[in-house]
Amino acid sequence: MTAVTPFPADGRPLLEVRQLSQQYFLRRQKLFAPRPILKVLQDIDFAVRPGEAVGLVGESGSGKTTLTRMLTGVEKPHEGHVVFDGVDVWSGGEAHRRLFRRSVQVVLQNPRSSLDPRMRVGTSLLEPLRSLKIEGDHAARVLEVLDQVGLQKSALERFPHEFSGGQLQRIAIARALMPNPRVLIADEPVSALDVSIQAQVLNLLKDLVRDLGLGLVFIAHDLSVVAYTTSKVYVMSSGKIVEVGKPLDLFRNPSAEATQNLVGAVLSVESGLAGNALA
Ligand SMILES: Nc1ncnc2c1ncn2[C@@H]1O[C@H](COP(=O)(O)OP(=O)(O)OP(=O)(O)O)[C@@H](O)[C@H]1O
Ligand SMILES: [Mg+2]
Repeated sequence: MTAVTPFPADGRPLLEVRQLSQQYFLRRQKLFAPRPILKVLQDIDFAVRPGEAVGLVGESGSGKTTLTRMLTGVEKPHEGHVVFDGVDVWSGGEAHRRLFRRSVQVVLQNPRSSLDPRMRVGTSLLEPLRSLKIEGDHAARVLEVLDQVGLQKSALERFPHEFSGGQLQRIAIARALMPNPRVLIADEPVSALDVSIQAQVLNLLKDLVRDLGLGLVFIAHDLSVVAYTTSKVYVMSSGKIVEVGKPLDLFRNPSAEATQNLVGAVLSVESGLAGNALA
């Protein structure tokens, strides 16, 4: 077996946001009242480098998925910058925006709802190439990606209902890899899976970061899952980044209240499972 040299997780960020804010206008309370503004993200600085796995944790509603929509270019921020490969995505021109869209791909929480049940797996895998108008040897690319995620060629002819949740999430990861992205954003990628197969999917993501030099943004509620997968964690609360650090440092010495709450939740779950509460 040949040893794989990990890609260096230093150097220039591949994908970053700088001083980014996003707000939504809510419904008027009265006919002539101004529309209330909900500030969902405030002054966010965030970066991921090639070969680096970064975690994003925070309570429900803290703004994680909204930040994902900025990182993928689905929404334009109200203020601040989204920068891919050193160039501002929203002022860098159409060619760069296309490269960016292709280079940042997403894996969602539930593969059963993210894969079309009527489509054979092979067709689903080709779909991103078609929608992004990517040319080349698509058949060869499918086989390469199947190998990267550890699936057999026979999977291509089958339909989603024929697979277990863990295998389906592999297929969803394969589909995200098809356009040859440089950053993968995984929004709660294992929380819909049985605990027994979560580790397999987490290990696959870790391998992809190491072997392909991908940047990974791993989003979760659960600090322990993120600690297993990433080397740096951003903690969000009410639309702000309140703490950044190495996962173990955050566990041992959480300074923001939101981080303390996340650590507390892990400890109480673990002590509950062990049947002996920590005092
Ligand atoms: N299009 C929108 N219009 C109005 N409010 C929105 C919109 N999208 C999100 N929000 C609000 O923004 C806040 C952040 O939501 P978001 O989905 O980003 O949180 P999250 O951290 O991903 O939560 P979860 O862990 O539950 O997935 C919530 O209060 C949500 O209601
Ligand atoms: Mg979310």
